[in-house]
Amino acid sequence: MSDPQPPGLPSRAAAYRVVRRVHAEDAWSPRAVDRVLRRSDLDARDRSFAANLAYETLRWEGTLDWALSRVVTRPLPAVQPEVLDVLRLGAWQLLYGVSPDRSAVGTAVDLARAEIGPQVTGFVNGVLRGLARERSRLRWPPADSDEGLGLKLAYPAWVVNEARAVFGGRTGAVLAAGNEAPGLTLRVVPHAERAARDPAGVLEARDALVDELRAAGLEASAGARAPESVRVPGGDPGVIPAVTEGRATPQDEASMLVVRALTWAVRASASPPGGAADIGGLLAGRRVLDACAAPGGKTTHLAVFGAEVTANDLHAGRSRMVGEAAERLGLSDRVTVTTGDAAALPLPPASFDAVLLDVPCTGLGVVRRRPELRWRRGPEDPARLGELQGRLLEAVARLVRPGGVLVYSACTWPMAETRDVIRLFLAIEGDRFSPIDVTPALGGSGTPVPGGHGIQLDPDRDDVDAMYLCALHRSSDAPRA
Ligand SMILES: C[S@@+](CC[C@H](N)C(=O)[O-])C[C@H]1O[C@@H](n2cnc3c(N)ncnc32)[C@H](O)[C@@H]1O
Repeated sequence: MSDPQPPGLPSRAAAYRVVRRVHAEDAWSPRAVDRVLRRSDLDARDRSFAANLAYETLRWEGTLDWALSRVVTRPLPAVQPEVLDVLRLGAWQLLYGVSPDRSAVGTAVDLARAEIGPQVTGFVNGVLRGLARERSRLRWPPADSDEGLGLKLAYPAWVVNEARAVFGGRTGAVLAAGNEAPGLTLRVVPHAERAARDPAGVLEARDALVDELRAAGLEASAGARAPESVRVPGGDPGVIPAVTEGRATPQDEASMLVVRALTWAVRASASPPGGAADIGGLLAGRRVLDACAAPGGKTTHLAVFGAEVTANDLHAGRSRMVGEAAERLGLSDRVTVTTGDAAALPLPPASFDAVLLDVPCTGLGVVRRRPELRWRRGPEDPARLGELQGRLLEAVARLVRPGGVLVYSACTWPMAETRDVIRLFLAIEGDRFSPIDVTPALGGSGTPVPGGHGIQLDPDRDDVDAMYLCALHRSSDAPRA
């Protein structure tokens, strides 16, 4: 968390506008950063400062609010939301930045005057001066309590409690890894015809992309887990020609591994499994349903591997995003986009060789990219979403043909959304579906989930988003009426 020679008001104003968008409009932070910075005329250093200050403020929101609530005399929810966001930006600088206190307070006051008005400057000044004074005397809860560890690592106490149940002694490491900026990862999009026939085409296209990015002065290397991945730390996808021309697309390796696992499972169901590297062509001509598809990352990956994909999403606007992604990457002829509730899709039973259910979830696995998510969820959400996920899984399972494959994935880790969903499903459908071991397709990453089925990918061990996945084979019986 560095803050060398802090830039001036314009970059702080940009950070403030990002935070406001996230809070007032429920915007996704990476999109808010993108929109605000696109409209600004900040130079590269100030842009980076603004983005970092916004992300840090969103990430540490609970801890900042805890500290602010020690010096604000009224309850924080009673503070004008715009003012509260200025206070949070200032508090982050007081608690974690390296600016002198006077400058941190002074710039927050300037920001309040410029963005809200002179009437609030006295309050902002008083609160932040109070925090600077009291900072070293704050009585933080014990660091081994859920609340204390949460405040120390920037998570709500309930998330710490859930994490302890899932990760045990690794809890601190997993939560800390969720605070590391992941950097940019691209998935190379080789020419689809070739990739569907020739697995080596994927590797050639990846190596060519690495060379191209390096020639452009970027630090680029092949990803360690998914063969089609390229790591570009510090890269801006908006200005990389391979991305703007549709030859690569931003995606975390964990998501790529879900499609790799599905491809592996289809192969394992069809014939004895071979090497993980030679699975590129195995979806050619397969009918695959991506039941919760937007924005289309996995759909387009499936299509590159030759699948005929039906890509569905609940919301028409989000379905459109899938169509646009397929168009951008030259894959429209392999993707049919639909809009509907995956719990009740008007599709004939047993009509797909494979179904991917990438569920709506708490998203705790992607907090590296969307730090605000941890504060948007509540302790009741894993069980509530787990119930929805179970219903969706049960509904789409009927669409898998006998001998076909069903893959369940969730970019999160609470057991209620991962192991328990599969456990309950198998309790009902265990005579028709059985788990498939897909570890050979995962490039050495992932940990089997204790006491159940499926694999958990984690940011601390695997340097990818935390993603749960479980592949199931449908036995070759007649479809149930
Ligand atoms: C985790 S995201 C999918 C990400 C996508 N598979 C990808 O890789 O780009 C979950 C998606 O499920 C959609 N969704 C939520 N409830 C749904 C439902 N009942 N039926 C279908 N889609 C749903 C959401 O709109 C969201 O786009």
